[in-house]
Amino acid sequence: MKRFTKCSISTALMLCMAMSAVAGCTQTDVTDPSQSSEAQQTEPAQAEPEDINYTIDNIRQYVVGVDEPVELEDGSTRPMINFDNAATTPALQPVMDAVNDKLTMYGSIGRGYSIKSNLSTQIYEETRDKVLDFVNADSERYTCIYVNTTTDGLNKLASALIESPDDVVLSTRIEHHANDLSWRERCHVIYAEVDDQGRVMYDDLERLLDENPGVKYVAVTAASNVTGYVTDVHRVAQMAHEHGAKIIVDGAQIVAHRQFSMIGHTPEENIDFFVFSAHKMYSPYGGGAIVGLKDVLNQHMPTFYGGGIVDIVTDNQVTYKEAPELYEAGSPNYPGVIGMGAAIDVLEEVGFDDISAHEQVLVRKLIDGLKQFDNVIIYGDTEDISDRVGVVTFNFSDVNSQFLANKMSQLGAGTRRGAFCAHPYVWRLMGIDEQEAMGFIGCDSAKTAGMIRASFGIYNTEEEVDEFLEILAQALEDCHNNPILGADSDIPAAY
Ligand code: ALA
Repeated sequence: MKRFTKCSISTALMLCMAMSAVAGCTQTDVTDPSQSSEAQQTEPAQAEPEDINYTIDNIRQYVVGVDEPVELEDGSTRPMINFDNAATTPALQPVMDAVNDKLTMYGSIGRGYSIKSNLSTQIYEETRDKVLDFVNADSERYTCIYVNTTTDGLNKLASALIESPDDVVLSTRIEHHANDLSWRERCHVIYAEVDDQGRVMYDDLERLLDENPGVKYVAVTAASNVTGYVTDVHRVAQMAHEHGAKIIVDGAQIVAHRQFSMIGHTPEENIDFFVFSAHKMYSPYGGGAIVGLKDVLNQHMPTFYGGGIVDIVTDNQVTYKEAPELYEAGSPNYPGVIGMGAAIDVLEEVGFDDISAHEQVLVRKLIDGLKQFDNVIIYGDTEDISDRVGVVTFNFSDVNSQFLANKMSQLGAGTRRGAFCAHPYVWRLMGIDEQEAMGFIGCDSAKTAGMIRASFGIYNTEEEVDEFLEILAQALEDCHNNPILGADSDIPAAY
């Protein structure tokens, strides 16, 4: 179906304003709780959320379920140590409270004729500005499109931007699958290599750009989910722009760890597209965002069609809206948007300087603790950790990592084990070549190479790192005594 005219003003917001006027309802009428009879009858004893000052020192008490006991293998109970925050983060209480609170006034977004619909639409639209502010993007050039997850956002972007299987995208071997396969399955992808420590090689990016003048997009992660390495994305942006390409940054692993800015020191260093998930930033309601250049997004459209993205449909013709609506077919995930907005508020209040400093302490402590064990293999640079977010991956040359991670889980320490949806990077770090990796097809998990990943959240503590190391010692002893893993075992160690 051909695309025709575009509407330049947010129709949803106009509709909302118009309906408010018709209903004789001002914003204050529906948002000020002190005006409602319910508010007059109740006398809240607790502090209002805005009275709490969230800091790196007190945030743990606002993490939902952090002290909830789990039943261990031996039948005892204890709170679990959760070092699997790179996969997903637990909910923050203020995030949950914000979602529950806003759902009392929930109505259809951009479609309804009701005060609840107006209010929900207004909050939904205003949260776009919060997201733009969060990544230092101005609303003149950039827009915020809501998505379900980073994977969803990268696929939406790729489906829109890639016009031919012959389009060339430059990516790297550090990426997780969402920022690799989304491009690989749609066009021709070339990859910059990583060095011996696993850091992305900037001179290889430059070389590939020089040798491939047709590169349209450079797709890089802001932080690795395997080693935690932070990419200097502004340096990559400069290279991309000098070669006529646009840059797309996968922000899944950065948003809860470091301040991110779309804007560099020079216009060439600016980021064109940034994608992230809310569930990795303490809002497990789904949701996430693409922050991207409006003018580019309005020259394309994703291959997702439905209500909300059109102005007029006739028997034979369709006129589409502009971004962001153009990219949001169907009814949106309102709790996801509310949760993401509330999570942004809390993270900004805690402050990324404190978050980053705290993570560095935990990473240093865990790496130093791991180094005390015989036969340990720690991936990535263990001396200079300044460019690593809170991720530590390791193995033992004499123990199978799946058995070890499983044992640690049974003793109360949660991690992730495997290749973390970043297989080519993990194989490189482990020294596994293409042929060996292909041999894993159809293998049991324990016979497929993997490593153990400990990944920190803002609420984890140094005491937990100490306990984790004690549990690791116990788990190693149990594995060494496990006859299934004995000398004659066909279950490989260091896998
Ligand atoms: N990318 C997510 C992880 O690293 C799923 O666990």
